[in-house]
Amino acid sequence: MFDYATMKKLMFNFSPENAHHIAEFFFKNGAKYAPFILPLLAERFFVHDKRLEQNLFGCTFLNPLGLGAGFDKNATMIKMLTALGFGYIEYGTITPKPQSGNAKPRLFRFVEEESIQNAMGFNNEGMDVIAKRLESLYPFATPLGANIGKNKVTPSEDALKDYEQLIRQFDRLSDYLVINISSPNTPGLRDLQNEAFIKDLFVMAKSLTNKPVLLKIAPDLTVKDAIDLCSCALENGAAGIVATNTTIDYSLLKNAKDFGGISGKVLREKSFALFEALAKEFFGKTTLISVGGIDSAEEAYRRLKAGASLIQTYTSFIFKGPSVNKEINLGILSRMEHEGFSRIGELIGSDRR
Ligand code: FNR
Repeated sequence: MFDYATMKKLMFNFSPENAHHIAEFFFKNGAKYAPFILPLLAERFFVHDKRLEQNLFGCTFLNPLGLGAGFDKNATMIKMLTALGFGYIEYGTITPKPQSGNAKPRLFRFVEEESIQNAMGFNNEGMDVIAKRLESLYPFATPLGANIGKNKVTPSEDALKDYEQLIRQFDRLSDYLVINISSPNTPGLRDLQNEAFIKDLFVMAKSLTNKPVLLKIAPDLTVKDAIDLCSCALENGAAGIVATNTTIDYSLLKNAKDFGGISGKVLREKSFALFEALAKEFFGKTTLISVGGIDSAEEAYRRLKAGASLIQTYTSFIFKGPSVNKEINLGILSRMEHEGFSRIGELIGSDRR
């Protein structure tokens, strides 16, 4: 019924961005015009096992593996992506106004390294169109996160206003929100990773919504800066940390471009190192989501043991297809059995105890 190796061969003949548009067309229209395929796909790829379930943010997460932000920027593919095995979806990044993103080409595959470099720049349809789309979908069967960012044209001194509008809009259309100030592709955005801005941002967020608001951080921060920044966010009301976004460490890829952010296999150790440092500091005090280079059950298990309540993938979904979702969830279960954990809650953070 579904052979990803063949499909990948076909899709990789297209430029990465065109391949994404083709996938989006089929994901969106498949769910709309042939909804009967959704339960068939879910049967094949979605792992639902009581031992993987957990309650977080007032919702039930059927499994801990979510889709990282940036794949479903416009929230058009949620139904299909869930059928393909993700336990939750983080849509976005959404900006207040629509924007077309950076100049093309801006998305590059590194097949041998199973890595991607992107300089998309928050191309999205803008909050009004996306909110309207979500109104007919939310609340959804699995939890949905809204990843939000400022428009490129918004000067840094007005950035807070962008986040304010976005929180007001997506508070009612998501189960959690993620503040993105860690993309390398909007000039000046990462400069907002400073304590003064973070404090104002979370104080404002707290006054607007009861939904959990998390901070997504860059892997290029020093451990000290990352801890200071996350402490500041948590003291001012953040409900958790998503670590990490893509890296601007271009030494990780032999033929890297000198712009954009790198994801996938070559990001794995860098992302894990920062995640682990944060987990040592914050595990038990807040909710931690680990993302960056997760491409196997072994790696997923390492992140959960290190202290991640939830994990996300993006790049490995491109290179390995939906079977990796099933492989990860089943692999977590078999490792849990082997090590004597009966519930995922016992596994999470077991390295920290
Ligand atoms: C991303 N990522 C991303 N993150 C985010 O917060 N907002 C976004 O809009 C995007 N856009 C985006 C586009 C593309 C093409 C890629 C590959 C990635 C980052 C993503 O969510 C994740 O943090 C990193 O990709 C690391 O995870 P993986 O890909 O190594 O599993």
